[in-house]
Amino acid sequence: MNLKNCDYDFDNLVDRNKHGSIKWESAKRQCELDVEMRSSEYSGRLLAVSTADMDFKMSPEIVESICEASSRLVYGYTEPTREYFDAVISWLRRRHGLEIDSSWLAFSPGVVAAIHYAISAFTNAGDGVIVQMPVYRPFHSSALLLGRRVINNALICEGNNYRIDFEDLERKASELSAKILIFCNPHNPIGRVWSRDDLVRVATICSRYGVVVVSDEIHADIVFSPYKHTSYFSLPEKLRRDAIVCTSPSKSFNMCGLQISNIIIKDEIMRRGFVRKSHEFGFHSPNCFATAATVAAYNKSEGWLDRLLEYIYGNYEMVKEFIVTKIPQVEVFPLQGTYLQWLNFESMGLSGRDREKLLRRKTGIFFESGYNFGEGGESFERLNLAYPKSFLQELLKRLEQVF
Ligand SMILES: Cc1ncc(COP(=O)(O)O)c(C=O)c1O
Repeated sequence: MNLKNCDYDFDNLVDRNKHGSIKWESAKRQCELDVEMRSSEYSGRLLAVSTADMDFKMSPEIVESICEASSRLVYGYTEPTREYFDAVISWLRRRHGLEIDSSWLAFSPGVVAAIHYAISAFTNAGDGVIVQMPVYRPFHSSALLLGRRVINNALICEGNNYRIDFEDLERKASELSAKILIFCNPHNPIGRVWSRDDLVRVATICSRYGVVVVSDEIHADIVFSPYKHTSYFSLPEKLRRDAIVCTSPSKSFNMCGLQISNIIIKDEIMRRGFVRKSHEFGFHSPNCFATAATVAAYNKSEGWLDRLLEYIYGNYEMVKEFIVTKIPQVEVFPLQGTYLQWLNFESMGLSGRDREKLLRRKTGIFFESGYNFGEGGESFERLNLAYPKSFLQELLKRLEQVF
């Protein structure tokens, strides 16, 4: 297939109704449970913009690779092939300037699973897991599920931007029980791409106190100019010796349901500890379709991704322009990376749950509610931007009516 002539279609919504899509099914379920929502004018026309996956057609090369893999007629256990390792290594070199060896890669069905393995492998019950709220919920919920203590190094919000509180991080990292930091870069939900200087300061503090860093870089391919993703792995070796760097094609190429991630752990003892823990959790080999799709994503779908980034950034500009001019009561936070827009509804003066209910009943919009991201998220809603423009225009029109 000639990528140059390929006209990717981001303007038409893929109907995921009846396909078990988590965000669409859960919106329908919530609507059914609420009498007022059920009888509202939008009950049959919900807009589910919560969970971070996209409603665009996949890259045709990935679809082709899945069809080809399915035609083999045997879906047995599969180990990562040479072609797979080469694709991952080449992608990380081309797009992120990283030089890695295939022996440093460990696998996991997803980054959340990798976070579970890392917390279990490198901390004990009761130890502290540092997170930087507001942040993707499984960062804190995984710690709690595993009987660890959540230590919040809260991000500082100034105007419509955030920064890391390094003094607080130093204090918290120095606590004896603090064993691991789950770091999000680019950061979900605030859309920040941390700078090299930020990373160096985080790494300097964590290496000083022996805190292991899990750097979740699942959104690393979705970064908008002039910002550039800096991988934690690109830091000097002495600063990132204890790092676990989580990469994955799942967000970039919308293949979250295939469940694969590539985890870089250079230190052999740590890597063994991580892999052993993944075995204890019952993981042994990646999904046979996921490895084929990853090769097609990294080797053949770069053109699709570049067009996607342009489209998403166009959506961001459209949403920002509309809200700034027509709904100035809502504050739009700048998007540096991810396809997730952080919106502040503080001016409504409602609790997160009351606002959620009101917006769902009056507009049929199901955002990812900010309170899910922990402290500091209460007054926000997270909007997924990975939809056709016409879909987001309808959403904005409905939102405007509330004000
Ligand atoms: C920061 C971050 N990490 C991890 C995940 C989920 O990753 P996986 O599906 O690979 O477990 C998400 C999904 O939204 C995410 O935003």
